[in-house]
Amino acid sequence: MQFTVAIDGPAASGKGTIARALAQAFGFAHLDTGLLYRAGAMKGGDPVAAARALAPEDLERHDLRTLAAGEAASRVAVMPEVRAALNKFQRDFARREGGAVLDGRDIGTVICPEAEVKLFVTASPEARAQRRCQELGEGDYEAVLAQVRARDARDTGRADAPMIAATDAVVLDTTALSIEAAVAAAQALVAERLGRSG
Ligand code: DC
Repeated sequence: MQFTVAIDGPAASGKGTIARALAQAFGFAHLDTGLLYRAGAMKGGDPVAAARALAPEDLERHDLRTLAAGEAASRVAVMPEVRAALNKFQRDFARREGGAVLDGRDIGTVICPEAEVKLFVTASPEARAQRRCQELGEGDYEAVLAQVRARDARDTGRADAPMIAATDAVVLDTTALSIEAAVAAAQALVAERLGRSG
């Protein structure tokens, strides 16, 4: 069975948590595509060569979840050659047997426009900055908020595969939702679509 759940949205919107919960609930494989961009950016040197040479051990680095890695990833992600180098791996993952959940910025629009479920998970910049500060235990709120806004602007403003909700995506705003409520809403949607396709 091929069944793809595409989850897009900005940093700290809750998309990663929702993606992991769905993968576990339905027994699907999960790919955090931001990690690919983070690992490529942190490899150093030419970003295009780094993306082309990405190896599984590059995804094991312990500094990939830092604010600095996210910022670096967002900068290399504007380069079409970097994106092209990572596309095939993501597409193959999306259509693997047994079902897959991918979270990122362009999964429902570019990587897997045929995904059976598309979610666009978002939240206010203020809520996201607050979550980031709590998660990371680093950075002061105002500085993190400025970074969140700058990253949103870069991710939505780039020419190649900008962050945008697919026209057929279900938008889930988690600003005022508990994580349990957000996961439950996403789970109900997947269950409904699985029922329809099965
Ligand atoms: O989801 P994240 O915060 O780990 O992503 C880090 C950066 O990588 C993000 O700001 C933009 C880029 N990215 C992307 O361009 N496309 C994706 N599918 C995933 C991430």
